[in-house]
Amino acid sequence: MDIKLEVLNGKIPEHVAIIMDGNGRWAKQQGNERVFGHKQGVKSVKNIVEIASELKIKFLTLYAFSTENWSRPKYEVDALMALLVSSIHSELNLLIKNNVRLKAIGDINSLPTEVINELNEAINTTSKNTGLTLILALSYSARWEIIEAVKNIVKDVKLDKLDINNINDNLFSTYLTTKNIPDPELLIRTSGEQRISNFLLWQISYTEFYFTEKLWPDFGKDDFINAIFAFQNRKRRFGKTGEQI
Ligand code: FPP
Repeated sequence: MDIKLEVLNGKIPEHVAIIMDGNGRWAKQQGNERVFGHKQGVKSVKNIVEIASELKIKFLTLYAFSTENWSRPKYEVDALMALLVSSIHSELNLLIKNNVRLKAIGDINSLPTEVINELNEAINTTSKNTGLTLILALSYSARWEIIEAVKNIVKDVKLDKLDINNINDNLFSTYLTTKNIPDPELLIRTSGEQRISNFLLWQISYTEFYFTEKLWPDFGKDDFINAIFAFQNRKRRFGKTGEQI
């Protein structure tokens, strides 16, 4: 049977997160500047948003810019920011056409004003869409997010809005930027690297990992389908025994 049909007949994960890695290496392999790889990476983003919508995945989170990425050379940071502005602007119609709702997580206020404006416009325009929720992690790092959550919890305790005895897993999740978003069931990382790089540390407690050698600009719809297929063949036990499942 066609692998896509098989995937469609199986359990579709509700939330998939992706660490899009390898743009720079892809560009270098072609004898091009790193920024060329990021531009090509946007094409992969479009393909993956389309296939995720088609498979009826509810949430797709893309690690587009980490807190640590601010330390890259200024020209690369500037180029990435410009690319964000231009691609959010040019792809807005595609988001509308595919009924995609856009969201962003991270320290959004640290982004350049043009990015914030473009982002807000696309978020507002797509806010009533009911298909895939596309979450861009921008200026995001999990440790930053957890520290922010702790600060806000302490504030609420001090203001007597929160009883310390009510702090538990579920309560803590509501203080994160991913409030109301289910934890990812599958995390994909491209480019052969096998690490988490400060991404969604709290949310991936029970997430299945899928690593592929493919560089992000080469990662296409078939590769995404293969990742979902691999996920569907995992045995998820959540700490229980195989017999209990
Ligand atoms: C990692 O590759 C990629 C990034 C840091 C940026 C990813 C951003 C995009 C694909 C553009 C996003 C655009 C939208 C609209 C979401 P790398 O530069 O670390 O590659 P390397 O490991 O080969 O150096």
